[in-house]
Amino acid sequence: MIKKLKQHQDDFDLLISKVSSLKELKQLRSEFLGKKGCVSLMLNEMRSLPDDQKPQAGKHINEFKQSVATLIQEKTQVFEKAFDQTSVNSEEFDTTLPGRRNSSGSIHPVTQIMDEIISIFFSLGFKVEEGPEIESDFYNFEALNIPKDHPARDMQDTFYIGNDVLRTHTSPVQIHVMENQKPPLRIIAPGKVFRCDSDVSHTPMFHQIEGLMVDENLSFGDLKGVMNIFLHEIFGQQTKTRFRPSFFPFTCPSAEVDIECVMCSGKGCQVCSKTGWLEILGCGMVDPAVFKSVNYDSERWLGFAFGLGIERIAMLKYRINDIRLFFENDLRFLKQF
Ligand code: PHE
Repeated sequence: MIKKLKQHQDDFDLLISKVSSLKELKQLRSEFLGKKGCVSLMLNEMRSLPDDQKPQAGKHINEFKQSVATLIQEKTQVFEKAFDQTSVNSEEFDTTLPGRRNSSGSIHPVTQIMDEIISIFFSLGFKVEEGPEIESDFYNFEALNIPKDHPARDMQDTFYIGNDVLRTHTSPVQIHVMENQKPPLRIIAPGKVFRCDSDVSHTPMFHQIEGLMVDENLSFGDLKGVMNIFLHEIFGQQTKTRFRPSFFPFTCPSAEVDIECVMCSGKGCQVCSKTGWLEILGCGMVDPAVFKSVNYDSERWLGFAFGLGIERIAMLKYRINDIRLFFENDLRFLKQF
């Protein structure tokens, strides 16, 4: 047994001195220390030795096993170090190359404007409400005093889903809120709206922000004040505004609000169709018929409402001439914001 061990020791010494790669080292390890390696075999053979020889033989085999393991370990480290060095030296690994940067995302311009508008109204005491994008005829039209033969109800303008519609404006949120909350209230409702329309200034989906304030003793003057504060915050304190009489079935009196053209400062250009003014939003005093549909006492409560298109504001603020750019997801466009 001792003789055999001596022979294995000599074999190992010879083999390890010739090893030239990590692969060969692995091979050597399995030959000597593996499950079927010579150390395992000798430990098996040892069992058949007479009992008084076993401890001695066991001691020698274990010493051999230990020294083989240590030598293989040392040699492995030598090879690994050399390997690292060669891959640095051979130009596989150019340490002078600049690192690859992770490209970082940015907030979509529509979301940026939306957040800005929300924070302006937040500071005026308005809180955010949301409503569903699929509405029944009642919420999108009926409760808002929009008559059955109104052109907005036309198939050409509205997307129908069976008896329901994709909301054509955020005004139905007014109804949901008033059904569930008692006055006084001050809310804004940002969200997606849908109309069957598509060209440089219209997309089938776009975003609006609705506003509604209900209180005692509200006047058109309050509406005008709030609209002016908002427009001055968004477009700058110098911005001139004007209120033009208009019509919406759910407000009376109604107005459209213009700002002086941001492109030509009122001189008249292509963007403002030579008028010097840009239409920005629709608003008015809540029509008593709307209060009736939500069981508010129109003798006691007064309200004003307004609605504006977010893309339109973003286009004027950032001077973007095609609304479709917002939804094409072209990084060259989005990266500029
Ligand atoms: N809902 C109207 C639209 O989409 C805007 C509006 C809202 C007008 C509230 C008056 C009051 O055109």
